[in-house]
Amino acid sequence: MKKIIFILAAYLFIVIPGNSQADPKVSKVLNETKMKSFIDALMKKMTLEEKLGQLNLPSAGDFTTGQAQSSDIAQKIRQGKVGGLFNIKSVAKIKDVQRVAVEESRLHIPLIFGMDVIHGYETTFPIPLGLSCTWDMQLVERSARIAATEASSDGINWTFSPMVDICRDPRWGRIAEGSGEDAYLGAEVAKAMVKGYQGNDLSKNNTIMSCVKHYALYGAPDAGRDYNTVDMSHQRMYNDYFPPYKAAVDAGVGSVMASFNEVDGVPATANKWLLTDVLRKQWGFKGFVVTDYTGINEMIDHGIGDLQTASSRALDAGIDMDMVGEGLLTTTAKSLKEGKIRLTQIDAACRRILEAKYKLGLFEDPYRYCDENRAKTEVFNQQNRNEAKSIAAQSFVLLKNQNNVLPLKKTGTVALIGPLADNKENMPGTWSVATRFENATSILTGMNSLVGDKVKIVYARGSNLVYDEQLDQRAGMFGKNTGRQNRSAEEMINEALEVSKNADVIVAALGESAEMSGESSSRSDLNLPDAQKDLLKALLKTGKPVVLVLITGRPLTIPWENENVPAILNVWFGGTEAGYAIADVLFGDVNPSGKLTTTWPQNAGQVPIFYKHKNTGRPLPEGKWFEKFRSNYLDVSNDPVYPFGFGLSYTAFQYSDIKLSSGSLKGSQTLTASVTISNTGKYDGKEVVQLYIRDVVGSVTRPVKELKGFRKIDLKAGETKTVTFSITPEDLKFYNYDLKYDWEPGEFEIIIGANSRDVKKVKVNWIK
Ligand code: BGC
Repeated sequence: MKKIIFILAAYLFIVIPGNSQADPKVSKVLNETKMKSFIDALMKKMTLEEKLGQLNLPSAGDFTTGQAQSSDIAQKIRQGKVGGLFNIKSVAKIKDVQRVAVEESRLHIPLIFGMDVIHGYETTFPIPLGLSCTWDMQLVERSARIAATEASSDGINWTFSPMVDICRDPRWGRIAEGSGEDAYLGAEVAKAMVKGYQGNDLSKNNTIMSCVKHYALYGAPDAGRDYNTVDMSHQRMYNDYFPPYKAAVDAGVGSVMASFNEVDGVPATANKWLLTDVLRKQWGFKGFVVTDYTGINEMIDHGIGDLQTASSRALDAGIDMDMVGEGLLTTTAKSLKEGKIRLTQIDAACRRILEAKYKLGLFEDPYRYCDENRAKTEVFNQQNRNEAKSIAAQSFVLLKNQNNVLPLKKTGTVALIGPLADNKENMPGTWSVATRFENATSILTGMNSLVGDKVKIVYARGSNLVYDEQLDQRAGMFGKNTGRQNRSAEEMINEALEVSKNADVIVAALGESAEMSGESSSRSDLNLPDAQKDLLKALLKTGKPVVLVLITGRPLTIPWENENVPAILNVWFGGTEAGYAIADVLFGDVNPSGKLTTTWPQNAGQVPIFYKHKNTGRPLPEGKWFEKFRSNYLDVSNDPVYPFGFGLSYTAFQYSDIKLSSGSLKGSQTLTASVTISNTGKYDGKEVVQLYIRDVVGSVTRPVKELKGFRKIDLKAGETKTVTFSITPEDLKFYNYDLKYDWEPGEFEIIIGANSRDVKKVKVNWIK
């Protein structure tokens, strides 16, 4: 069949040039044939140096037009020693640099322009961890689509996103950049993001190439310390950590970024098993692999050898492009001479980079993504901002709402207190590289703009972010000032109490600053910072209702707050429109519907804690919190404060028991499991209905439950809907001891609920 398509394609190519409307399979082969002959011809003209140049990805810094002409990088571009650039923003600058490449280099090969467009471009969406809490894949895809439209109109054609590292350890700051602890949900998000960025046709001027990262296992560093060693079983990799990367590959992601950490004792950047056997041979990845920032050079400190050794091992393992470090550029010719690398390996890497540029349409028009008019109208426009506001509101998670303190009434006086309450630059969150902070909205502005004269909003800062001045500095980098004041804690608290004196309700906006999570922002203490906790205690003492608006890039340990504060709304970092979105939810214009995608521990000692754990041989009996010689702690129960999947609404939902199509199944039959959900409260709302399955007996031990499906539904007040899940043996498969992906017959529990803890269960028997 392949041969026939090839002959047909060759025929069409030779006889009817330009005919690509036929069968999509044929036109795909046709396009690939065209691309191959174009690149073959180009590569024939390339010197070894020029080929290695394509593998080189320096960081541009944010140089201006004039500097671009005279910089060292410009000189390298002229010499054909640069394949792409990243960290350069605006049509004017990118056009200027591209002109150097296509007009002044010998072979006129255009550059690819990358950027960390992680959660939006100038219109900034919630941090990815927040976005995942929408459990709404259409929204996730939409956010990536808008990001791609904005970035592509401003010169960018490649984004280092999605970040899909599974993380079960909130000490790790980069948990903020991913979709939480679950592989199934993570895979759904990965797919949606890739689709959103790349669309159906990469050569369109409003789609950009996606780069899934950080391959692999970066989210599982020892002790939650960034860049630290990772060591895990292959079963855990395949079942719990690989699925989102694989989902991105299956969705056609154009590139993959290798991670900083080691895997099986070999840094991912030089891990041939990971980059070639798994990624290319098992998963069929056809795009290119880029290192992370100086990933090759860092292998010297990993103890792999000097730069030449690190570089040749990286190329040999399957790296195609070298971010920043120039190891490939400067040492590969020597390695080739010494027989450490083959020319075919250099050619393969160079070809993959050229293919990416071809697919992006850059050979046809190197300025395809540089259109001042588009940039003027499509970046940070009102429509994108409206969507960002709505998406942000749907990412918030209502953790507690005693006596329906929320939503607030649109009358009376509200005291807004907290170091982050009137701070806009922290609202976009970590990795908001393209965001203009002056465009972001603070909570105070958002509340005032929503309620106008109807509600009197009074404000006081109340405390600094933390007591420790040095920690405050570390927590306020990259222009995200924490606004530290040189006043005593007592003075600031007293001022807050004074301001709150006549208020009907106090909204305490507390938590982390944007840079307390993200890269190299691990924390060993996950409590609300001390200065803010003291403020919160003082506010509670007033006896007035207090609403804690929690701003955070990770799960925090808040058992005390959960006990003592009547209402808690977790808002993550909601992006440029966060202030407006928070106001919408606080005053009830939007009913919160987000659900956690991570487990929230009671203390850092419980970490790693996750819902999909194994049972052990000594599980704690249900309902108990300690029993000697059982798997538990002396000083804290095994329970989290909030389980995975948890989130409340202003309304209430009631679940029926599960109805099954059958209790015993055979082979490839389909089981349907239904529940009826009623909105028994006063507000219209959205509910995320979650399906978990437990494989009770296996050839290897199986988790106590695994997410296998979810549905987000709208329910009007008083309305009832039935949700039906179809389950086939595909949903029962897992990687066994021999890493064979299959299912095993026996007993299964079908588990449905509003979160991973509050569920209904039924048993079925499924034979082969
Ligand atoms: C990060 C990546 C990022 C890259 C480029 C690295 O430090 O780990 O996630 O894409 O920098 O900015």
